[in-house]
Amino acid sequence: MKPFFITTAIDYTNGAPHIGHAYEKVLADVLARFHRQNGEEVFLLTGVDQHGQKVQQSAEREGIAPQEYVDGVTAKFLALWEKLGIRFDGWAATTADKHKECVRAILTRLWEDKDPATGGSRWIYKAARSGHYSVRQEQFLTDKERGPDGEFGPEWGQVEFREEENYYFRLAEHREWLLGLIDTRSAEGKPFVIPEFRVVELRNAVEKLEGDLCISRPKSRLSWGIEFPFDPEFVTYVWFDALVNYLSFAPGYDPAAVRPPEEFLHLWRTVIHDIGKDILIPAHGVYWPVMLKALGFTDAEMPTLLVHGWWNISGAKMSKSLGNTVDPDMLADRYGSAALRYYLMSDIATGRDADFSEERLVQRHNVDLANGLGNLVNRSLNMTRKYREGSPNQVVIPEDFSAHLAANAAALSEYSRFMREGQVQAGLERLGDVVNRANALVDASAPWKLAKDPDQAERLDGVLTILILSARTAATMLLSVLPEAAEEILRQLALEPDSLAGEIAPGLPEGYRCGEPQPVFPRLELPAPPAA
Ligand code: MSP
Repeated sequence: MKPFFITTAIDYTNGAPHIGHAYEKVLADVLARFHRQNGEEVFLLTGVDQHGQKVQQSAEREGIAPQEYVDGVTAKFLALWEKLGIRFDGWAATTADKHKECVRAILTRLWEDKDPATGGSRWIYKAARSGHYSVRQEQFLTDKERGPDGEFGPEWGQVEFREEENYYFRLAEHREWLLGLIDTRSAEGKPFVIPEFRVVELRNAVEKLEGDLCISRPKSRLSWGIEFPFDPEFVTYVWFDALVNYLSFAPGYDPAAVRPPEEFLHLWRTVIHDIGKDILIPAHGVYWPVMLKALGFTDAEMPTLLVHGWWNISGAKMSKSLGNTVDPDMLADRYGSAALRYYLMSDIATGRDADFSEERLVQRHNVDLANGLGNLVNRSLNMTRKYREGSPNQVVIPEDFSAHLAANAAALSEYSRFMREGQVQAGLERLGDVVNRANALVDASAPWKLAKDPDQAERLDGVLTILILSARTAATMLLSVLPEAAEEILRQLALEPDSLAGEIAPGLPEGYRCGEPQPVFPRLELPAPPAA
């Protein structure tokens, strides 16, 4: 079976985690759990981006050393992932020696990869540049960035004129290759970018690509970074450092090897980078594939970028300066991490934006989980215990009900297909179908009436069997999103989950006896509004 390697963006450690960070990590965790459930060899890599100007400035504001500052923020991220049940296999913290050595080895290797015609490196060169520089965005600006009035807008913050020598990584000459990669890969089985609608955006950006990437910062203005191996006057630009985490923390990567080692490629060939839409262009869609190409990766070894959308607040961007960021830690304490995970997976379509709402979080939990699945499990078990002492008789499912199990089997296989595509919300909708169909069967067949009529005994056994099998299928589909709740349901049902690959069993196992129902999803309430 093919392995499954998923990474997330590594979060900047210049402030506490917010709901956007949590969403991306839960998404990766859910997909990793789905593939594990399917028996695949899985590796989930996540972590923190600890270098760069923003971190240096935040540490300065607090009056402490950058390392001390990032250690404090990193601890907050780790505690949150623990609380939210994010099960990762690799932790990428970019101040780790292992990572710094890898970045330096890569820079050395690219610097020493000489072009015989010129004697210089094929990938990196040093050049002086003068121009307008945005301090906030840490980049030189061109005329394209000027507003209609010819001035640089407020989004660039303080803009100053600078003349500086730096190291550059060649990008522009790989434009045609990149366009080819985007096109051929989107037509093949393993696309470069999903969802498909992002491809157009990336293509347009690459068509306009000009200029190379400045990959160094003079130490005189930024010291918090990885020192250049062949020039101690410079540190590495934070993106050139951060992207490398996907290699430095992957099992088996060797930066010195001309071709990536086979034990590394075994996992890497399946790699999916789970990232937000803001870091597709240019970092992951332009810099990263060219960096990989420079390191000897073939076109077939390029990653797939799974680009998710953003959680907004009433349609507006969440930001620290607007003071409207949502704290996932507080939400998990208030409603439980299961309700938060379920909301983040069920109320946004992967790739699209959504509006965050605490009311929706509570409503989703109460409607889908407490009233929907929770009620199904509860009444199925109660009726089975009441009418059959926990053991329905083995029956052939009545003809008019057999379509029910076939529909559940179809829902389960559609669920698996959506999960493989990273479409968790669509997968959860199939779970909802299974629950609704079963709850509708209870209402339509009225088991309490069947129980009073001895001629309907077989029919009652059939209905109870279908209800229990439906609850099992629903729990199977919930395992990756809410592992603890799903396991608790399976424990009460006294059943193993359905196989994700196989068909649904047509009946209950020999000698089956269900367990005792216990509430799994207690109803949630919004906090009372403050008294007037
Ligand atoms: N450090 C870089 C990533 C380097 S990856 C080699 C970075 N960090 S970040 O902290 O700003 O963002 C981390 C991730 O969170 C990104 O994928 C970003 O898209 C995502 N999100 C940030 N705000 C978000 C929302 N409001 N909603 C959903 N995800 C968002 O970029």
